[in-house]
Amino acid sequence: VTSVSPSPLSVEDVLADAISWRRHLHAHPELSFQERETAAFVRERLEEIGGLELSSPTPTSVVARLRFERPGKTLALRADMDALPIEEESGVEFSSTRPGVMHACGHDAHTAELLAIVRLLAARRDALAGEVRFVFQHAEELPPGGAAEIVASGALEGVDAVVGCHVISDLEVGRVSASEGPCSAAADVFTARIRGKGGHAAFPEDSIDPVAAAAQAVSSLQQVVSREVAPRDRAVVSVTRIHAGTADNIIPEVVELGGTVRTYDEEVRQRIIASLRRILDGVAAAHRCTAELDYTDGYRPTVNDAALAALVRDVAGERVVDYPPMMGGEDFSAYGAAAPACFFFVGAGGPGAFPHHHPRFTIDERAIPVAIETFLGVVERYLG
Ligand code: NI
Repeated sequence: VTSVSPSPLSVEDVLADAISWRRHLHAHPELSFQERETAAFVRERLEEIGGLELSSPTPTSVVARLRFERPGKTLALRADMDALPIEEESGVEFSSTRPGVMHACGHDAHTAELLAIVRLLAARRDALAGEVRFVFQHAEELPPGGAAEIVASGALEGVDAVVGCHVISDLEVGRVSASEGPCSAAADVFTARIRGKGGHAAFPEDSIDPVAAAAQAVSSLQQVVSREVAPRDRAVVSVTRIHAGTADNIIPEVVELGGTVRTYDEEVRQRIIASLRRILDGVAAAHRCTAELDYTDGYRPTVNDAALAALVRDVAGERVVDYPPMMGGEDFSAYGAAAPACFFFVGAGGPGAFPHHHPRFTIDERAIPVAIETFLGVVERYLG
């Protein structure tokens, strides 16, 4: 990464602070829509940097505008700030001080990285044109998500492009991926209820057993992806919850199933929803039960703008690898509806690392300067 002009501040100069900010945030995680202290911490750091226009589009988000003297385009950079309801078991020195809450997805690193970039760019006022708008976003982890609220608030008005990144624990540290096209899936959830008629387990003939019907339904749902979706179309149907019953000798009245549907293509998504209804209704009816389905649309797929993704890859140079589109969801997709957008991945671990959302999730902090350098290079190229 090359600077446009000699600068008083390098990535190395801000790295110690970025790491200490990240560790502070890691030790003080807050759940989605409750990021009050995190937002206050961000605001304090931004006020220290100075020369920014600050606003709070929602109670726990912060937007900072850095305008350069020469007119030009506006580039938004986004970091998410929320943590997860997980009891931390990572064993790191700066582990969560809050029972049952943990930064188990790396959003602490995202926030610290973006603060470091604000500082670097504030020291490069003369070299650039236009505006950088820094979006410290709340509530990525909890649908309907903070991104949609930020967009709805009008905080992105006048923005020409949006770039964000995510650390990835199973991608080797030092690697960067910015694929053209899809990179995170549509992530919907569902709850189904299969209703029969409860009774004494010793007299099944007097009951209609929803447990037996639900077992068949779970099996049949495995065929949606394997038999109804083309292998070229990525899709997942996972049943992740089954709840029924209170005792060994009682046939329950109802079984509740829950799970998630992940897709990229809207037509495939609609087809899977229809398949869920057909299979649940059909299997329930075959066993004298009834079924109802509550289906909730989640985040839309993130689809990277081709030109922006090429710019990120160009900046990342030899670090670039192909990381396949993941079936995880990301509310960054909401920005793509407002402006051309690119979400890139930064390796923060490697094979054998604990996955995101795991109590022992950690990141390799050597990922932090890689993310900062990539963002900085993108801004310099886009606004230089
Ligand atoms: Ni995340």
